[in-house]
This record gives sequence, C-alpha cells and structure tokens, in this order.
Amino acid sequence: MSHEISVVVAYHSRFGHTARQAEAVARGAAEVPGSTAHLIAVDEITEQDWALLDAADAVVFGSPTYLGDVSAGFRTFVELTSGRWAEQAWRNKLAAGFVNSGAMSGDKLNALQSLSIFAAQHGMTWVSLGLLPGWNRSTASDQDLNRLGFWLGAAAQSNGDQGADQMHPSDLATAEHLGRRVAEQAQRITAGDALLSAAV
Ligand SMILES: Cc1cc2nc3c(=O)[nH]c(=O)nc-3n(C[C@H](O)[C@H](O)[C@H](O)COP(=O)(O)O)c2cc1C
Repeated sequence: MSHEISVVVAYHSRFGHTARQAEAVARGAAEVPGSTAHLIAVDEITEQDWALLDAADAVVFGSPTYLGDVSAGFRTFVELTSGRWAEQAWRNKLAAGFVNSGAMSGDKLNALQSLSIFAAQHGMTWVSLGLLPGWNRSTASDQDLNRLGFWLGAAAQSNGDQGADQMHPSDLATAEHLGRRVAEQAQRITAGDALLSAAV
C-alpha cells in the first residue's frame, strides 16, 4: 500500500545544468506510487515554496559547484533557513543531495558534503545514492549509472561549452535514481509510522 508523501527538490542553477538535473530527480521521485514531487528554485523562493518545504517528507538539495563549493545562490538559501534551524523545524525529514560541475571531479564532493552538513544541522536524515560506481571496469561504459562514482549523492558533469540539453544521459539517469530512492525511503518510513500508530 502506498502513502501520500511529498518530495521537494530545492536547487540553485545559474546556467540551467543543475536545473535539468533537478528535473530528473523530481521525475524519479514522482515515479514512486503515492509520491508527489515539487521543484523549488531557491533564488526565487516564495512563501508558498517555504510552506512546501515545511510540509515535505523529504527534501533533495542541489547545487552547482562554484569555486569548489555550493554556489552563493544556494548558500543564501542556506542562511535563510536559520530560523527553521533554531526551531529544528525540519528535524527527521529525509534529505539527499546532488551536485554538478564542469570538471569530472571539479571538487564537487566538497559541495555535496556541504549539502549533507546543512541537512545534518537541521537534524534531517541523509539518504545516500545507494549505487555502486559505474564506468570502473575495462568492459564498463560511460553510460553506466553513477559513472562518476559517488556514494553520498548524485553527481553530474556538464561541459562548459554545451547547454543543459546536452547533459550526459548517465548523470540524468543517476539523478532520477536518487529521486526514486528518496521517495521509496520516505514511503518505507511513512508505512512504518502508520504501523506503529495503529499498534498503540
Ligand atoms: C563562478 C563559477 C565557479 C565555478 N567553479 C567550478 C569548480 O570549482 N569546479 C568545476 O568543475 N566547475 C566549476 N564551474 C563550472 C560549473 O560548475 C558548471 O558550469 C555547472 O554545470 C554550472 O551549473 P548551472 O548551469 O546549474 O549553473 C564554475 C562555474 C562558475 C560560473
């Protein structure tokens, strides 16, 4: 039996690449029965978006990597959450993350770690990518899921001279996988909570 759960994908993107990755995360989350996915561009956040975040079962954070960390646009959003941080208003919600950069590494792991620390500061429960690395055998291909070999979240590499429509299919499929996994984990927790409250 599926439960009604809400997954919010809260991202920043200046040139559209991380926005396309965010759409893939939302698509994956929405594939899970009973799950609704919402996209929030954090540099244009509205009161309605804050209400969606407060009501969410899970929030997936996404940022491009600028100078080795999350973008200033994402960081501004992080600091705007400090009132909610003080109240631990998002405690126990699920959280996950995705990052994008121009280089294969590009130090985007550092940006992803920033997202996970942000979630931990809010008392949220981090969901990992849950995939083995792809593209690490002589017989493997760059089309493998998780071609960039991350564990903490989903990664993408975007060529600086190409638009978001040219993003690598593996990175988009990996982002979809993360969305699906987060929604499935939210379903499991909601089902467990429903069983517990039925038992008392
Ligand atoms: C100010 C700035 C800093 C950047 N720093 C990095 C970096 O540290 N590592 C990297 O690999 N790419 C870096 N890039 C490239 C972006 O991460 C890459 O173009 C990304 O896909 C942009 O995402 P967006 O289209 O969602 O804004 C930088 C780009 C900008 C504009």
